[in-house]
Amino acid sequence: MPARKILVTAALPYANGPIHIGHLVEYIQTDIWVRFQRLRGERCIYICADDTHGTAITIRARKECRSEEELIAQVKAEHERDFAGFRISFDNYGSTNSSENRELCGEIWDAICRAGLVKTENVDQLYDTVANTFLADRFVRGTCPHCRAANQPGDNCSACGATYSPTELIDPVSTLSDSKPEIRSAPHLFIELNQLRDFLVEYTQQGDHLQKEIANYLRGHFLGDADSPEGLKELKSWDVSRPAPYFGFEIPGHLGHYWYVWFDAPIGYIASTKQWCDRHGERLEDWWKSDDVEIHHFLGKDITYFHTLFWPGMLKTAGFSLPRKIHIHGFLTVNGAKMSKSTGTFVKAETYLKYLDPSALRYFYASKLTPRVDDLDLSVDEFVNKFNADIVGKVVNLASRTAKFVEQVGLSKTYPEDGGLFARAAAVGHEIADAYQECDFARATRLICEIADQVNPFVDTEQPWVLRKDPSQAQRLQDVCTIALNLFRQLAIYLAPILPDLAERAGQLLHDPIVSWDQSQTPLLGTPVAKFEHMLKRIEVKDFEKMIEETAKETAKEIATTPAAGEGTVAASLPQDSDEALRNEPLAAECTIEDFAKVDLRVARIVRAEHVPEAKKLLKLTVSLGGEHTRTVFAGIKAAYEPESLVGRLVIIVANLKPRAMKFGLSEGMVCAAGGGGTEVYLLSPDSGAVPGQRVH
Ligand code: MSP
Ligand code: ZN
Repeated sequence: MPARKILVTAALPYANGPIHIGHLVEYIQTDIWVRFQRLRGERCIYICADDTHGTAITIRARKECRSEEELIAQVKAEHERDFAGFRISFDNYGSTNSSENRELCGEIWDAICRAGLVKTENVDQLYDTVANTFLADRFVRGTCPHCRAANQPGDNCSACGATYSPTELIDPVSTLSDSKPEIRSAPHLFIELNQLRDFLVEYTQQGDHLQKEIANYLRGHFLGDADSPEGLKELKSWDVSRPAPYFGFEIPGHLGHYWYVWFDAPIGYIASTKQWCDRHGERLEDWWKSDDVEIHHFLGKDITYFHTLFWPGMLKTAGFSLPRKIHIHGFLTVNGAKMSKSTGTFVKAETYLKYLDPSALRYFYASKLTPRVDDLDLSVDEFVNKFNADIVGKVVNLASRTAKFVEQVGLSKTYPEDGGLFARAAAVGHEIADAYQECDFARATRLICEIADQVNPFVDTEQPWVLRKDPSQAQRLQDVCTIALNLFRQLAIYLAPILPDLAERAGQLLHDPIVSWDQSQTPLLGTPVAKFEHMLKRIEVKDFEKMIEETAKETAKEIATTPAAGEGTVAASLPQDSDEALRNEPLAAECTIEDFAKVDLRVARIVRAEHVPEAKKLLKLTVSLGGEHTRTVFAGIKAAYEPESLVGRLVIIVANLKPRAMKFGLSEGMVCAAGGGGTEVYLLSPDSGAVPGQRVH
């Protein structure tokens, strides 16, 4: 049978951060499947790239005072280094910011336009006039329009759970510059996905392109069901353009408009394949437009929507092959909880490699991965025990207990009687292969361990270390070691997709490189045996703990240098602050803590805000300290704030300031604000959670 042609991709990691152990679930899963195919003699290429476009990249680049291009070049080098450290065997690792990608985006876009799928609509978006950029939802915070909780994210409220658009926020603030963004309207280009509805229903619901649970999820959430009470659902049009400034590709014929990062990112799969083709004298059509090729995408459940609806729609419209299968995996949790920076479980690939063997993580993930979309948990004890017990204790142990006794004589010339051990293990090969093929690596590792469990008692009973003391048992010693080493080799072949390092060392030990699955079916005879060198060492809980400790430290450092960065979010920009404000108003003379304690600062809520007709600069505020305790305060903030925008928000007041009679009435305190006055006034507000009456210490 001629070899199958298989093209495999893993999702393209964002170029705005390092590879972490969560990502590695995917790149290791995919690598195991790819290595299995290659071992079976199929022509299988593994394609990936960095996903480099979008606002987050620009923001990080600005923060680090360099160009986006410089940033993504450095991150790419780091990603490639980390992947190599985990033995991820990409055939090409590209970048979405490549000329190949730009060209392919143009080609696919033209086809989509020709098919009449593109429409233009105006979209209101918040614009940061200081940072000069439209703001994605996650870069805006403000007061919830429903419950008025302060400092809420741009898309939903953590206090009342409401969802809204960032343009509805009261007093929105850009987290990039802390300035007040304005609403700007700009035309956006949309792809009318609903025109592809029939095709998408067929592609996702018929055949086995998707896991059953994914097909059902799409039906339930997006496509609808003619038989269900809600009936069919209309697919929303997809906003695929962003106005300048945007780091990405400008859309031909739409000056100042760029493809949204999720448009060009999956096209990066094709662009990266193109680079591989050019290097190997192959034609791109033979891989992306040919029925002879099986395309397999591997990705996490969070990006299901993009890969199962938009992407097949784009491919279909532009005449490229559709994926044969989209394999979706769940998310990694550590010790039962989401990976978290504060507990040190957000472990970078780089940090892992300082303390632990990549083989251990590859094996652990394999033992947990099934064809289902379930999340998988990494707990220290299970991680350490599994690798030590299964791999070091049962597999490597077969070689370490026998190889040294046959260093001089090599393996026997004919295969000795072994009570059917080898033949039984060879027969299980088919089942193991099926498990790999179906991405049921948990089952593959179980079957492999069952074999190891049968061989170890054989060595225990034969006791080669006793046989070697009796010269008349020399032949039996060689035979026992030949059997044990052949079963060791068989296991190393079965494990080769998961543990390439072990396979390589097994090949060196027995002078016969492991290159094909079929090698597991016939014993190796008469070859020399090299000196036994350590293959894989036990891993230690204390090294795991050191890794967690270092991760927690890295995080503490990060938090210290990026005050606005929240957990798991992109670090917000750190502008280059000038010292102008300090120079304009030098620091006051030193005071003691007792001096400070004399000033009673309290949280208060503005319950009324009114213009004072005769006053040019003042607003009259009524603030509540809770209960019946209200105060009237005249504040010089008229040029900076509309009264309506103030009602409801929390501020900080000086609550024990001696009341002052003013022309318009008695002022019973002072509202704290920064800035030089006029329009340059910035009220202080506490983080959400604070309540009126609380003292500020
Ligand atoms: N750039 C997009 C993918 C574009 S593909 C055309 C992206 N990048 S990512 O860096 O956020 O994630 C890359 C892959 O890693 C995704 O498939 C994602 O699901 C996976 N994972 C990221 N964190 C993960 C875990 N904690 N656990 C398991 N997989 C995770 O999404
Ligand atoms: Zn709310």
